[in-house]
Amino acid sequence: MRKNINSINASSLPFGEGRGGAQPKVTLVGAGPGDPDLLTIKGANALAEAQVVLYDALANEEILTYAPKKSIKIFVGKRKGCHTYSQDEINQLIVDNALTYGHVVRLKGGDPFIFGRGSEEIDFVESFGIPTAVVPGISSSVAVPAYQGISLTKRGVSESFWVITGTTSDRKLSNDVALAAQSSATVVILMGMSKLAQIVNLFQNESKGASPIAIIQNGTTPKEKIGVGTIDTIQNVVAEKKLSSPAIIVIGEVVRESNKLKDFYHDYLIEKR
Ligand SMILES: C[S@@+](CC[C@H](N)C(=O)[O-])C[C@H]1O[C@@H](n2cnc3c(N)ncnc32)[C@H](O)[C@@H]1O
Repeated sequence: MRKNINSINASSLPFGEGRGGAQPKVTLVGAGPGDPDLLTIKGANALAEAQVVLYDALANEEILTYAPKKSIKIFVGKRKGCHTYSQDEINQLIVDNALTYGHVVRLKGGDPFIFGRGSEEIDFVESFGIPTAVVPGISSSVAVPAYQGISLTKRGVSESFWVITGTTSDRKLSNDVALAAQSSATVVILMGMSKLAQIVNLFQNESKGASPIAIIQNGTTPKEKIGVGTIDTIQNVVAEKKLSSPAIIVIGEVVRESNKLKDFYHDYLIEKR
């Protein structure tokens, strides 16, 4: 639902143009998975020209230093103790700020179009006739496994990978997980930690209890934590290591192939003998 464009007092604008001054424009920028060095050059250039930046919890705040000091930075993510904005409120904030200040950068974790609701924001903004642009980001779905040496495809090992949400808009596990469990593809699940028991069940039903699995929390950041095991053991690993969201679940033989992780599987295989 659209609200009236409102509220911000033009005399207090940091750029002094006011409504009708700077041309409204919105750029969606992918912030990458956490490591600030994984922002793209194009993303940094867009930030350097921002009057306003609206950013999420998964976008590393260090990246805000690419925006001008005098730009307005608004946190719209979910964080304990902070007001949580609904998607409608975020959409409206983007439009209000573009019409009031000019160039808004909407900075989103990973890639804006991978489970990021980026296209909904673009559609809303364009319905006001405001021009938009998208700067893709490095998605956690590929970068977080890569930092663990996990190659999602590998000649002779995995010919494809699926990237699936563990939690759909109606809070259920995606039906695609059951289909992926039947395939020989590498399976990457985002937002799946609260559904881990269900995921394990689906793979066990396909006789894949021995399949390697890695769970990586806060990947590519100094807070990174990883648990590795098999489908049959992973729930114990998660409990032991106290792994939680935000995390990526990677299932498939490529996990065992990682140079960084193969000692674990080597030891594991010897223990099992
Ligand atoms: C709403 S989705 C956004 C995904 C994002 N657009 C992307 O391309 O990476 C959020 C989920 O991405 C995953 N995620 C994002 N950043 C992560 C990180 N640094 N480490 C582990 N998982 C991450 C988690 O599964 C998290 O719950």
